[in-house]
Amino acid sequence: MFKIHEQKYHPDLDPKRKLYIETYGCQMNFSDSQIVGSIMTDNNFETTDKIDEADLIFVNTCSIRDHAEQRVRARLQEFKRYKKLKPGLIIGVLGCMAERLKSQLIDEEKMVDVIVGPDAYRDLPRLLSIAETGQKAINVILSADETYADINPVRLDSTGISAFISIMRGCENFCSYCVVPFTRGRERSRNPETIVSEAQDLFNSGFREVTLLGQNVNSYKSERGSGFPELMERIAEIDPALRVRFATSHPKDLSDELLKTMAAYPNICRSIHLPVQSGSDKILKLMNRKYDRQWYMGRIEAIRAILPDCALSTDVIAGFCTETEDDHQQTLELMKWAGYDYAFMFKYSERPGTVAEKRYEDDVPEEVKSRRLKEIIDLQQELSYRSNQADIGKTFEVLVENFSKKSQKELSGRNSHNKVVIFPKHDFKPGDYVNVRITACTSATLKGEAII
Ligand code: SAH
Ligand code: SF4
Ligand code: F3S
Repeated sequence: MFKIHEQKYHPDLDPKRKLYIETYGCQMNFSDSQIVGSIMTDNNFETTDKIDEADLIFVNTCSIRDHAEQRVRARLQEFKRYKKLKPGLIIGVLGCMAERLKSQLIDEEKMVDVIVGPDAYRDLPRLLSIAETGQKAINVILSADETYADINPVRLDSTGISAFISIMRGCENFCSYCVVPFTRGRERSRNPETIVSEAQDLFNSGFREVTLLGQNVNSYKSERGSGFPELMERIAEIDPALRVRFATSHPKDLSDELLKTMAAYPNICRSIHLPVQSGSDKILKLMNRKYDRQWYMGRIEAIRAILPDCALSTDVIAGFCTETEDDHQQTLELMKWAGYDYAFMFKYSERPGTVAEKRYEDDVPEEVKSRRLKEIIDLQQELSYRSNQADIGKTFEVLVENFSKKSQKELSGRNSHNKVVIFPKHDFKPGDYVNVRITACTSATLKGEAII
């Protein structure tokens, strides 16, 4: 008797199996799905956007608010149907919900075969081989150093113009409301050489914009001690035709040095996302944001002084624990003062395990949260409209990304301020830089004519 060396797949003999990935949550999660896509394509899978064809369904999940988790749970119920149609189908839950709920999720959602946390994606092939034997497989170990630096992401659903690059992982800020430090673990920065070469490769293959991603990019630090401004500089120097963006900046760490670096490079986009969360000092303290209203306003003044033509966007939470009408008014006032061009706005959602859940009562009634959120959204709508109206008559350089959603005769792109600009196509195509004079707007988009 001799034993045949066991090898599950033979690349030349076995047809590739199909992986369908659905992604929820932040840009980091979308970027992670591309890493997962790459690991799986190295293991004899190919990605598909047709769920009925899939041999493997992954859902990369978000835990930031309860609503995000509920959406995934509803989706998992729908996946049961595909499992009935294709008995060998494997369903995996990835990302923050996997990390937060661990094996509990398998107990609660019986259709799930594999649970994988955000630092364990290299283990996916092994976990799948366990799942193929009919057992449940789980790895939710967080790492202090995993950055997937050597993995070349598969650019899923990409237009080939704009790409995200994760430059760091994890978060240690422990804002009292936030689940991310628990689901993503320790903060760690990726080696700058691998980031620069990824950006260079993207540029060489036709990409014209990269967005550097991290929960708090300003605390990026390489092993040799170089910081975020140096990294930005190196990426900006790849080519003046490569646009550079970044997200997210924590206000406590936004340095003048970074603003000066931005000012020195026209290809670093004039747009800063600076989440304020609340305009009340009392609430900011309870949130453990580590800055107060005055500090935040000082940072905006620094932006205005060093980068006079810079767009500003923010995140706001309505109805955090103990928030009074007066606190809420202070948020609205600060929004007006800052005149944000854009904002992401949320109702506070209590997350299990956070300091806010343990120590503070979620005491703002649901209807009050809803009303305050509506006031915040209405105000922002007005601010966005006003900001767009002020652009009428101005000319912007627009990087064309795609055809407009509404018409093949129109192109859609963004200006340096990150505003969407729609204009008639002429002979332009995605990837072109076009000077567009703005002639009209809504609160969400600018419309214009190309200057030929
Ligand atoms: N790291 C980024 C934010 C990541 S989460 C930063 O600190 O700026 C994105 C946004 O979700 C946060 O800015 C916050 O506004 C919102 N958010 C986070 N936890 C929340 C919760 N428990 N309830 C409601 N909104 C929340
Ligand atoms: Fe969450 Fe705060 Fe970290 Fe942002 S900085 S991810 S809000 S803990
Ligand atoms: Fe959500 Fe996790 Fe991102 S909780 S917002 S997917 S880091």
